[in-house]
Amino acid sequence: MEEMLEKRFYMVAKTFQGLEEVLALEIRELGVQDIQILIRAVRFEGYLKTLYAANYRLRTALKVLVEVDAFTAKNDFDLYNGIQKIDWTRYLEPSMSIAVECVLSSDYFSHSQFIAQRTKDAVVDQFRDRFRKRPNVDRENPDLRISLHIQDAKVNVLLDSSGASLHKRGYRSALHMAPVNEVLAAGLLMLAGWKGKGNLVDPMCGSGTFLIEGALIAYQIPPGMFRKSFGFERWMNYDEDLFTDVAESCDENGAFNHKIIGSDKSGKSLLLARDGLHRAFLDKKVELVQSPIEEFVPPTGGGIAIMNPPYNERLKIGNLTGLYRTIGDRLKQHYSGYQAWIFSGNPDAMKAVGLHPTKRIPLLNGSIECSFRRYDVYAGSRKVKYQTRNNSSR
Ligand SMILES: C[S@@+](CC[C@H](N)C(=O)[O-])C[C@H]1O[C@@H](n2cnc3c(N)ncnc32)[C@H](O)[C@@H]1O
Repeated sequence: MEEMLEKRFYMVAKTFQGLEEVLALEIRELGVQDIQILIRAVRFEGYLKTLYAANYRLRTALKVLVEVDAFTAKNDFDLYNGIQKIDWTRYLEPSMSIAVECVLSSDYFSHSQFIAQRTKDAVVDQFRDRFRKRPNVDRENPDLRISLHIQDAKVNVLLDSSGASLHKRGYRSALHMAPVNEVLAAGLLMLAGWKGKGNLVDPMCGSGTFLIEGALIAYQIPPGMFRKSFGFERWMNYDEDLFTDVAESCDENGAFNHKIIGSDKSGKSLLLARDGLHRAFLDKKVELVQSPIEEFVPPTGGGIAIMNPPYNERLKIGNLTGLYRTIGDRLKQHYSGYQAWIFSGNPDAMKAVGLHPTKRIPLLNGSIECSFRRYDVYAGSRKVKYQTRNNSSR
């Protein structure tokens, strides 16, 4: 592992389907040129410094994995041998603990649990044969997470440098009933073109994920800043000085001069939002108002309005069509100069917004098929692109 310091190696950053392009853009901004877009992932080449920066700075990555080896296996025997051929002493000491996870898409193998078990056996046997001591298994909090990706007969062996998923930023203490995932929220903001130019408004802010992620973008605060730890900190080659350099090289932007405001009709939701903002040191940078969307008026000057209204999956709302119609009416009447973006998993309800979306991006929220739609409300004229109600398809 020592040689990883100077050497270039391949990494894979995982993300949600539909965010691959924004993730690739973020990786390019780290100074990486060799980038390959995969499905729900981006592969790239870099140094240890790149690995640390990727974990600390990428807003749309869920995990950053390091490629170790790839081989062909059609059965249990090939798999065991392939894993045994890797020199695990480069990555592990007998006193360390491991966990193995497996992502499987193959006709040759059917049980990911069994594969994880065989992989663990192959690693542990290598140590037992050489040192008479072996690493232990710790599924919850291991020193080294080994990640196996098997597609047909191709086995990719990777090391998970992130540890807990990177959406766990560290600024949340409790969960809202239906929060949007932090990585997804950051990705949606980026798809919406949010760069901190203008105001940012979420009139149904719930626990404030869009507001927090939006403020982190506007003030150029790295999302990894609030994390207690990353997986790579327990690796044999961990270079604390290098990580400190990476973290300290991120300069906050004090020049954001617009407003970031959230509102929600629920006081309970706002308590969660307030708590998250406080933990992210953003209380003075983001304003919260308790108000139903029926009464909330965004600041003048325009910008981006983004919202994730209830769509009856987790939050049961009586008259959903009525709520979406109200959203459309409020946009027409009060959001002049704003680009409004609605993220919802309910296409029928979305038709009730009654405006013509100028962009539609299909995305998944967990397993729910969602649509992210843009509505332009032009400054000055209050002119919007109307559509006949109930006359739009997904
Ligand atoms: C799906 S949640 C939003 C979650 C949020 N994006 C987050 O990450 O926590 C929808 C939110 O809309 C709020 N809401 C429902 N009806 C509302 C209304 N008429 N006016 C304002 N907020 C409303 C709910 O209280 C809830 O917090």
